[in-house]
Amino acid sequence: MTEPSAQAQAVPCLALRGITKTYPSVVANDGIDLDVAVGEIHAILGENGAGKSTLVKIIYGVVRADAGQMRWDGRPVTVGSPGEARRLGIGMVFQHFSLFETLTVAENISLAVPGSLRELSGRIARVSERYGLPVDPRRPVHALSVGERQRVEIVRCLLQEPRLLILDEPTSVLPPQAVEKLFETLARLAGEGVSILYISHKLQEIQSLCHTATVLRGGRVVGVADPRRASAEELARLMIGRDLPAAAHPEAAAEREERLVVSGLTLPADEPFGTMLRDVSLVLHGGEIVGIAGVSGNGQKELMAALSGERLVEPAEAVRLCGAAAGRLGPRARRTRGLAFVPEERLGRGAVPPVTLAENALLTAAHLDMVRSGFVQTDKTRAFAERCIREFDVKAAGADASAQSLSGGNLQKYLVGRELLQRPTVLLVSQPTWGLAVGASAFIRKRLVEL
Ligand SMILES: Nc1ncnc2c1ncn2[C@@H]1O[C@H](COP(=O)(O)OP(=O)(O)O)[C@@H](O)[C@H]1O
Ligand SMILES: [Mg+2]
Repeated sequence: MTEPSAQAQAVPCLALRGITKTYPSVVANDGIDLDVAVGEIHAILGENGAGKSTLVKIIYGVVRADAGQMRWDGRPVTVGSPGEARRLGIGMVFQHFSLFETLTVAENISLAVPGSLRELSGRIARVSERYGLPVDPRRPVHALSVGERQRVEIVRCLLQEPRLLILDEPTSVLPPQAVEKLFETLARLAGEGVSILYISHKLQEIQSLCHTATVLRGGRVVGVADPRRASAEELARLMIGRDLPAAAHPEAAAEREERLVVSGLTLPADEPFGTMLRDVSLVLHGGEIVGIAGVSGNGQKELMAALSGERLVEPAEAVRLCGAAAGRLGPRARRTRGLAFVPEERLGRGAVPPVTLAENALLTAAHLDMVRSGFVQTDKTRAFAERCIREFDVKAAGADASAQSLSGGNLQKYLVGRELLQRPTVLLVSQPTWGLAVGASAFIRKRLVEL
């Protein structure tokens, strides 16, 4: 890794003082100070909701601050729009992409960068070659993977020769090899004097890439550290404000009973851009946790549907649950045989937003004596919901609170709790900590490991 260049001692490229932004329900940025040196890779580290995206949107002119100053090369500036930001030399790659699917790479870029398509294609090829960002200017964006789309966005920024490049959680969509490539590109840019603001909540990334880290919590700067010297524990403590609960690593249990066996599972895609499952096999023993890794969009969703019973599979023996063929059983029949699952989408799939937590318990736990002769046993249902709230530390007004009144983390704890309290023999969890703060994630991991 290269040190920020000697010019770093001089005037910072970007200096923020007292940046404040209040939304009706929250102070998203509360008096933020930040200095980014020339050629520095500067991390903004913080949990979900810490205010990272708000801060960089202010810098890029997408959001206007209520108070505070911004200096660019030591001169006070106000950035009223992304166009003004680009004229100063600020480029940004957003957390959510902003490309038109039906246009080609070159056409997309031509919307932001002047020049004929032909001339632009040549420049795209040169920049992509120079920085190790392979993109084909002629391909339509809809045919590109997420990693390729991100490269297009980065190339588009680089064509404008920015002096500050902002990337908001760029690796959340990338497989590990692509992360390495991206880091090489960023290190190279920094070596050429480009400053980089790198937003992430992933400690290891920041430790391997960044020269400085500004840590945000609840909209405030709670620390500025050299991430290469600070330990991951110190950074995590700054980020969440307390120690991380220790993640016990489970001994694989001695029991070797086969609970879930998938053999040669093949399932056609069920939608035009869906993924086909080809000859998938796996065995899950009692007491074992099997991880399904892979970049989203490579069949995880389809596999979950086939395992949960949302999609039936042929032959029935392709999915065996506790020794019995289960491929033709629907979700309810699989549940009564000991399967429980937490789907990826919390609202809609996992829970019905407007109804109460108690009623949501009925959705998957009804077979636990909650319905008798067609009547809902209200007291049993409420007792179950209350126990779940208590045991899984769910912050909710009570069993009568609606699912949609809970924050994402608390709803997820409730949904995981609802499944775990049923003492399943096989539990499927899809992205259980997706979008959750580190504290809530660690809690859920711990409860899964304890099962
Ligand atoms: N447009 C908006 N309207 C209302 N609240 C917002 C808006 N944008 C962000 N917030 C709130 O501001 C806080 C910080 O959000 P954000 O900057 O997106 O955090 P981060 O990027 O660190 O996850 C959150 O509580 C979020 O809900
Ligand atoms: Mg964000």
